[in-house]
Amino acid sequence: MWFQTYCNVRIKDKEFEPYISSSDIQSTIQKIADQINTDYSGKSVIFVGVLNGAFMFAGDLLKNIDFNCEISFIKVASYEGTSSSGKVHELIGLVNDIKDKHVIILEDIVDTGLTLNKIFSMINHDEPASLEVASLLYKPEAFQGKHSPKYVGFEIPKKFIVGYGLDYLEEGRNTKDIYELKDK
Ligand code: IMP
Repeated sequence: MWFQTYCNVRIKDKEFEPYISSSDIQSTIQKIADQINTDYSGKSVIFVGVLNGAFMFAGDLLKNIDFNCEISFIKVASYEGTSSSGKVHELIGLVNDIKDKHVIILEDIVDTGLTLNKIFSMINHDEPASLEVASLLYKPEAFQGKHSPKYVGFEIPKKFIVGYGLDYLEEGRNTKDIYELKDK
């Protein structure tokens, strides 16, 4: 039904077509939250969202977490246009004390996994009780990292997508649905 009102979008020089609807995103996030509620109930947990891309996922997931927890954000950058630069820069670090707490990193998408390598080395340095990742999207065919996400919303092929936090040249983050790059 959603595709009847859900059209292609143009961002700068590229056209994108519908890929994952808002209702599918929300029901998948609910399932991830249910699993985390079961796994982490009674534990001291801090969620760490990775800016900018994970801001929508973090907001919607955390509304469905039913235990007391801490929430923080870090900011890293690696993408240039439609591909990873291969170099990950830390732009904003974690200020919270995470020693002996259970850390759950919230990612919009895990692609090569190089960003997670960098984040794991930043966070493990501060001796958390455990460290896991929840990612809305995961591209297993592109993955070459050391730490795969424990909680995954959608496994997708190697394609470039935008929306729901994900950008193309910093635009396109502010949509409820997710779009894929249209083949020429
Ligand atoms: P990785 O280090 O290659 O795993 O890339 C992680 C980051 O690259 C994500 O947090 C996104 O910001 C960005 N990224 C990866 N794939 C896409 C995509 O298809 N569209 C938009 N951004 C992406």
